[in-house]
Amino acid sequence: MGCSSWPSDNELDRLKKMVAIMGRGSPSDVRVVVSPYRICPLGAHIDHQGGTVSAMTINKGILLGFIPSDDSQVLLRSGQFQGEVRFRVDEVQHPKGSITANNTENAHDSSKVCEECDWGNYARGALYALQRGGYHLTQGIIGFICGSEGLDSSGLSSSAAVGVAYLLALESANSLTISTTENVELDRIIENEYLGLRNGILDQSAILLSSYGCLTCMNCKTKEYMLIHLPKLLGDQESKGQEAYKILLAFSGLKHALASNPGYNCRVSECQAAARVLLQVSGNERCDPLLCNVELDVYEAHKDKLEPNLARRAEHYFSENMRVTEGLKAWASGKLEDFGRLISASGLSSVQNYECGCEPLIQLYKILLRTPGVFGARFSGAGFRGCCIAFVHPDRAEEAASFVRDEYSKVQPKLAGQLNSDTAVLICEAGDSACVI
Ligand code: GLA
Repeated sequence: MGCSSWPSDNELDRLKKMVAIMGRGSPSDVRVVVSPYRICPLGAHIDHQGGTVSAMTINKGILLGFIPSDDSQVLLRSGQFQGEVRFRVDEVQHPKGSITANNTENAHDSSKVCEECDWGNYARGALYALQRGGYHLTQGIIGFICGSEGLDSSGLSSSAAVGVAYLLALESANSLTISTTENVELDRIIENEYLGLRNGILDQSAILLSSYGCLTCMNCKTKEYMLIHLPKLLGDQESKGQEAYKILLAFSGLKHALASNPGYNCRVSECQAAARVLLQVSGNERCDPLLCNVELDVYEAHKDKLEPNLARRAEHYFSENMRVTEGLKAWASGKLEDFGRLISASGLSSVQNYECGCEPLIQLYKILLRTPGVFGARFSGAGFRGCCIAFVHPDRAEEAASFVRDEYSKVQPKLAGQLNSDTAVLICEAGDSACVI
């Protein structure tokens, strides 16, 4: 297998020229952070409970071109948002305060945390995290940040990609050597402490730890991870120099979560409430109220003590962990059909047990299940907006994309009409980890 096809030399050259003008330097002085978006084929919504997740990056994401500013000033511009962000790295940063349950899904997109003028929150959050980690920065950056066209607010974790990009840029400008596992923790500080989201560590782990051609498996309780290669036994594709699969991103056209969505933090609280009940009945009430602290046999023996909605959240957690275990085996032995079936089962559990998603995303999911060449599908992220992902046979990816486009426009003509027909369904490939080049 080769390596990630993103970013292209053209994209890098354009960005470097732009930043060189901003910083009155030369394009060769410009460093670029490449921070990819992630998908999570199996292991949805269990990271915040210490479950085991699977993830990989795609060949699209965030680029942050920057040069050290020679003083403590940070100056940022964005390809997506108006205005400039300015602050100094020697200003002490304080948390933004907590985000309420209902607007958390929006807060996953860097742009939605505040209005346009505040799009720099993730940069300030990165500085906050580094300061919390005991690092004293002296060098600011002059930078320009941009995301792959049309992919913001898609449930592909653009917010974590942005947070990671600022961390890596500030570290590079200040010659700090920080391990990837420490950066996972620093990004957690941005999201959980600075912004007040109660999410897990799936997103930044995928972005920082993934390796091209592998599935990343992360135990969110112990923080141990593994990279699992897809074996080269899928002969036909290999001999054509092709991957054994392509990744489809099928967009719903919904950019904002519907007001009726239950919100991310609300589901986290329900999982914790279920954990509390189960820990109490088994005499383990001193443990942290996380479902990873409940043994499977305790759950089986006492699940009837849970209120129906809490029982469904716990069922999602325990069944999803099992799907991850089975999925890793299927991946490691190259059984993409089995892997795909588990992804679709994970999607169904998200709808029926975790009760997230929304009508357009569920319709897209159902269309993907009957699309030619698709191994498996589910919605990306919480499914309150954004896109569904699918693994598809490479020879049928084009056919699958046009089938999904046509079928979706029949059931959601208005939303489909707002999408650019060339990019309503994108065919992507796996990516690599975030890096500075
Ligand atoms: C969001 C969160 C992650 C994870 C996923 C769902 O992306 O940021 O921590 O919970 O949703 O799997």
